Amino acid sequence: MSDLALAFIHPGHALYEGELELRFRVLREPLGFTRAQVAFPFEGNSLHLVAHQGDTVLGCVLFNPEDAHGGRLFQMAVSPTLQGRGLGARLVRALEEELRRRGFTHVHLHARAPVVPFYERLGYSVYGEPFTEVGIPHRHMRKALDSRGA
Ligand SMILES: CC(C)(COP(=O)(O)OP(=O)(O)OC[C@H]1O[C@@H](n2cnc3c(N)ncnc32)[C@H](O)[C@@H]1OP(=O)(O)O)[C@@H](O)C(=O)NCCC(=O)NCCS
Repeated sequence: MSDLALAFIHPGHALYEGELELRFRVLREPLGFTRAQVAFPFEGNSLHLVAHQGDTVLGCVLFNPEDAHGGRLFQMAVSPTLQGRGLGARLVRALEEELRRRGFTHVHLHARAPVVPFYERLGYSVYGEPFTEVGIPHRHMRKALDSRGA
């Protein structure tokens, strides 16, 4: 874990194919989706933060800016062999630090229902009604980013 590096990349970067493969294996394949259904239309405008060990991508989280102040965190994934060891939280905190640096003040996301407590530990709150996305129950969650990094 300690030799895992975090890096912001973009589609076209050498680690991008590894990021897509991780997203497919962790987030899409278990739901019966194909590799072709992994990429989002706003992929190119999004921030991509990956955790990697050399050429191997082991975690990622993306952020799509929706205006100058906020946007949506999405495609949060950690390799099954590393889940539960703090990498997901490290990725979210590093993304938030970069977002604060860029002047963003709020983040929202679509949380899979069983993962709501993970985001609550990171300061996110549920709002609105439950909904279904990619065939499974989700909740809307959001967080205001304060300038002190709380
Ligand atoms: C959800 C996920 C990103 C969390 O990453 P992770 O590296 O396993 O989580 P961490 O080890 O950083 O956990 C941070 C804290 O959240 C808690 N947590 C993590 N997943 C949780 C869950 N599903 N339910 C309850 N608590 C959870 C941990 O116990 C830990 O608590 P602590 O601060 O008391 O130690 C990862 O498990 C994953 O990729 N899951 C499959 C894909 C997925 O569901 N992605 C989210 C889509 S919305």
